[in-house]
Amino acid sequence: MRILIAGCGYVGCELAGRLVAAGHDAWGLSRRPSGLPPGVRPIAADLADPGALRALPPALDAIVYAAAAGGPTEAHYRAVYLDGPRNLLAALAAAGQAPRRVVHVSSTGVYPQRDGSWVDEDSPAEPPDLMGRVLRDGERAVLDGPFPGTVLRLAGIYGPGRTHWIDRVKDGSARRPPPGTWTNRIHRDDAAGAIAHLLALPAPEPLYLGVDDEPAELAAVLDFLAARLGVPPPPPDPDAPGADPRRGRGAKRCSNRRLRTSGFVPLYPTYREGYGSLLATP
Ligand SMILES: NC(=O)c1ccc[n+]([C@@H]2O[C@H](COP(=O)([O-])OP(=O)(O)OC[C@H]3O[C@@H](n4cnc5c(N)ncnc54)[C@H](OP(=O)(O)O)[C@@H]3O)[C@@H](O)[C@H]2O)c1
Repeated sequence: MRILIAGCGYVGCELAGRLVAAGHDAWGLSRRPSGLPPGVRPIAADLADPGALRALPPALDAIVYAAAAGGPTEAHYRAVYLDGPRNLLAALAAAGQAPRRVVHVSSTGVYPQRDGSWVDEDSPAEPPDLMGRVLRDGERAVLDGPFPGTVLRLAGIYGPGRTHWIDRVKDGSARRPPPGTWTNRIHRDDAAGAIAHLLALPAPEPLYLGVDDEPAELAAVLDFLAARLGVPPPPPDPDAPGADPRRGRGAKRCSNRRLRTSGFVPLYPTYREGYGSLLATP
């Protein structure tokens, strides 16, 4: 297959390397492509600039949209999560391309639920905030677009080089949130693996959640890391930003049942295996 990865960063590069290793042709697009795995062909273009997308490789079989906003403002979000997919779909259509699949990577951040309830693909995703609505509009642009689309909503991505909680537990700055503060996570390799899995499915559903098997209390994750690092468990701090689930981005439990039922098998089913592998690597 000939596959374009638009927004070829942390997850995209892992995916691109796997696709090339499996014998596919892969292109990695970003504004400043660098560090692409061997065999992945670079395309330097700004997805927010329609004029920059006129020279895409021909006869693409599949597109993966995995760009992430470089900043927290509405302008950053609109450029990457809404204008970007629209521009790319329009450029592909204008060039007469007919990819048989567009996998659009989105976020479980579209679920505003904060009561610890389980959410899945059938749960309402009606974010009250503007950023969440931009993400939803980008998803819709793909699902209502000219090519068969599938949205994958990823949870918090961690992995090599993305070790936020390990670093904070190690340096003593982590604080224990109150009970009911849930975290949903996915290891980078499973995020890339899930996208590759969806690309290989003959008839994927329009929407999947990309999370591991076990939503966890953040406090349990921190305790696990402290025990493995041989440092004291983080002290409680109810006033820490984000520690109160009512103020957090959402204290929900995300189910991966649909992805699992479709045949996907994660390498790291829970944070224990995922963080365990990172801590085992010197
Ligand atoms: N990180 C998380 O925990 C998390 C959670 C849920 C969902 N997600 C989603 O998962 C996907 C992958 O995330 P990631 O962590 O792999 O992202 P990342 O490492 O930040 O990579 C994003 C890529 O997008 C490119 N990019 C940004 N703006 C662009 C533009 N205007 N035109 C072209 N390329 C652009 C960046 O390269 P340049 O800067 O060189 O352009 C970079 O290569 C994203 O869709 C993200 O929203 C992430």
